[in-house]
Amino acid sequence: MSVSRVAVVTGASGGIGAATVRRLVKDGFDIVGVARRTGRLEALADETGARVRPLDLTDQDAVLRFAAGLDACDVLVNNAGGAFGAESVAAADPDDWRRMYEVNVLGTLHVTQALLPLLRAGAGGTIVTITSTAASVNYEGGGGYSAAKHAEHALVETLRLELNGEPVRVVEVAPGMVRTEEFALNRLRGDAARAAAVYEGVDRPLTADDVAECVALVVGLPQHVNVDRLVVRPLAQAAQHRLHRGPLFRP
Ligand SMILES: NC(=O)c1ccc[n+]([C@@H]2O[C@H](COP(=O)([O-])OP(=O)(O)OC[C@H]3O[C@@H](n4cnc5c(N)ncnc54)[C@H](OP(=O)(O)O)[C@@H]3O)[C@@H](O)[C@H]2O)c1
Repeated sequence: MSVSRVAVVTGASGGIGAATVRRLVKDGFDIVGVARRTGRLEALADETGARVRPLDLTDQDAVLRFAAGLDACDVLVNNAGGAFGAESVAAADPDDWRRMYEVNVLGTLHVTQALLPLLRAGAGGTIVTITSTAASVNYEGGGGYSAAKHAEHALVETLRLELNGEPVRVVEVAPGMVRTEEFALNRLRGDAARAAAVYEGVDRPLTADDVAECVALVVGLPQHVNVDRLVVRPLAQAAQHRLHRGPLFRP
C-alpha cells in the first residue's frame, strides 16, 4: 500500500492557497491547510477531504505547536501573505509595513523553521514559497509590500544555498497580477470599487487556479529538478508597468 505524501499549505482559507489545496488533492497529497478563519477552512475540508488547522503564522509558539502535532511533511507551500495599503512612501503607515513584514516574511520564517526537521526527515522535501513579481520590481505605492516580498525572496534564496547538499528543494513562484477575491480588497482597505478598478479592462488576469497549477507543476517534477524561480504573469501583463487593458483574445 502506498502512503500518500503530506503537503502543508498556508493561507488555505481563500485565493491561491485554497486553489492549491484543491489542486494538490487531485495529485493524491494528504493536505494540511492552515489559516486563521476556521469557517472557511472547515468548508474547504468538507469539499476536498483535506485536513485543516486554524493557525496564525505570526505567532511562533502556535506554529511550533502545530508542527509538533504532525508526523510527516513532504511539501510545504508558503502561500499566506498579502498587502496592506497602497500609499506612497511619504504617506505610508509604518504599522501597515510592520504587518506586511510579519505575515509575508516572519510567518514564512516561522513555518519553514518549524517544518524543516520533517522536510529533512522524509524521502525528499519541497518548499514552495509564493512571493510576487513585487519581490524583484518596485512600483509607486507598492513600497511596503515590495520591501516585504523582496525580503521573502531573500529568505528563499538564502535557504536554497544553506540546504545545498540535502534532498530538500527550495522553489519560488512569483506571480504577477492574480485576480483573487480578497487580495486587492485587503490592500485597499475594503474599497470594492478601487479593488475592481485594479483589474478593469484586463483580459483574463491570472486566477488562483492558474497559480495552483504552477505549484503542482514544480512539485510534480522529479525530485532532482529544482525550479529556482518561476515568474508567471497573465499574457496581458508584459512587465510590472506594462499592462494591456482591452480585448486580447478573440471571443
Ligand atoms: N493576488 C495577487 O495579485 C498576488 C500576486 C502575487 C503574489 N501574491 C501572493 O500570493 C499569496 C496569496 O495571495 P492571494 O491573492 O490568494 O491572497 P488572499 O486571497 O488575500 O489570501 C491570503 C491568505 O493568507 C492567509 N493569511 C493572512 N494572514 C495570515 C496569518 N497571520 N496567519 C495565517 N494565515 C494568514 C489568509 O487567511 P486568514 O485571513 O483566514 O488567516 C488567506 O488564506 C500571498 O502571499 C500574496 O502576497 C498575490
